[in-house]
Amino acid sequence: MKLIETEQLSVGVYNCDGELLAIEDRCSHDDGPLCLGPWDPDDCTVICPRHGAKFDIRSGNALTLPAFQAVKVFPVRVEDGTVLVDV
Ligand code: FES
Repeated sequence: MKLIETEQLSVGVYNCDGELLAIEDRCSHDDGPLCLGPWDPDDCTVICPRHGAKFDIRSGNALTLPAFQAVKVFPVRVEDGTVLVDV
């Protein structure tokens, strides 16, 4: 996982079995630093380090409580060897 930070937004970029994915680094439960949590490249999920909610990195959907709302995901593309995230 590579964390990309701008003034307005923090996004985690993941390589899930060769597929590049980007998800907002802000848990929908209580604004926890989602992308600092452990992630599983096999099922492409991440667990929030604050209270343990699990999210699908592809869709942003919350898979377990205490979160129940999705987080934002963003398209990722590679141009001339540079990884770009459309936020
Ligand atoms: S802030 Fe992420 S589960 Fe509570």
